[in-house]
Amino acid sequence: MRVYLDHNATTPPREEVVDAMERVLRETWGNPSSTHAEGAAARAAVDRAREQVASLVGCAPRDLLFTAGATEANNTALLGVLSGTPGHILSSAVEHPSVEAALDALESRGWEVTRAPVDPDGRVGAETAIDALREDTALVSLIWANNETGVLQPVDEIAEAARERGILFHTDATQRVGKLPIDLSHTPADLLSLSAHKLNGPKGTGALVVRQGLAFEPLLRGGPQEGGRRGGTENVAGIVGLGEACALAARELPERARRTGALRDRLWEGISQKIAGVRWNAASDAVLPNTLNVGFEGVAGEMLLQALDLEGISASAGAACASGSIEASPVLVAMGRSPAEARGTLRFSVGHGVDESQIDHVLALLPDLVERARVAGDV
Ligand SMILES: Cc1ncc(COP(=O)(O)O)c(C=O)c1O
Repeated sequence: MRVYLDHNATTPPREEVVDAMERVLRETWGNPSSTHAEGAAARAAVDRAREQVASLVGCAPRDLLFTAGATEANNTALLGVLSGTPGHILSSAVEHPSVEAALDALESRGWEVTRAPVDPDGRVGAETAIDALREDTALVSLIWANNETGVLQPVDEIAEAARERGILFHTDATQRVGKLPIDLSHTPADLLSLSAHKLNGPKGTGALVVRQGLAFEPLLRGGPQEGGRRGGTENVAGIVGLGEACALAARELPERARRTGALRDRLWEGISQKIAGVRWNAASDAVLPNTLNVGFEGVAGEMLLQALDLEGISASAGAACASGSIEASPVLVAMGRSPAEARGTLRFSVGHGVDESQIDHVLALLPDLVERARVAGDV
């Protein structure tokens, strides 16, 4: 039996998504820019998907542009809206590398970036962040739900403060979309990024919401696709897959959150009862329902991860091997964890297809695997 507990890395596409994409590849293969019947059918499929995605996040369909995933959406948002004399940007210390790298690029162009710190639970303090806004702040970019810890940031409060001051607000909502509700008619965000493969859609497709009237420079220049905001013939199958995944999420959201929350809590209860020296890296009241980031004292995470994989269990680690040495996760370091604690951290993220018997299977094996990893040492 394989137990896949790495749904924050990617999710298995749902049957409904695969069926919808297959129909496009076989039947609706026209170019949406063509004016003939084949083109019109493809255009209609893209338009329908745009409505499905917009409906899930509560924006107008015309405010949404399709991208090749959240990396492109984040880069388009950050690099596309800032023009003129470089000023100040507020972000956080726990952004995804696709935001972090775009911030680095902006710094090299003269922009000054403040990365708001997080507390030991991984939260940015709304007051601290708002206090860091300046006269010359042009943009705030804040991850809504962290991919490693699942910790939710106070996006509503900070977006509201930014709006009052006339500052643009972007949120990387990639991990939240499909797991918890989003309603842009209430959250005053100007830009929002999402990705299909995090909600049981295909890889390589995503979207960026750009509030109407907000001028920006396209990242990809070319034809008039996406209202001139992103050149290139649309990935119709991927877009339809994203639309279908969003329609499923819209229908299932409350039940999905309840179900994944119960599975995650069952896993944590078992771990905390059966294994000593463990710590949940998050505040339990501000975290995605599907995510459990656990520190195992005295454990080399990569060793435990391998042992789990051999037993058929997939999770992910809080440290990565980069150029032959172990690098602690910057997110965990920002939360005040030591490199050794970060190294002993695993992320379990549940989703579609996971059930209670699988969680119990993991709980039956994990204590022994942790014990063996502790005995093996090398932390
Ligand atoms: C929070 C967050 N932002 C952005 C991305 C990048 O998404 P994509 O894989 O679609 O480029 C990811 C995926 O790893 C993510 O978790």
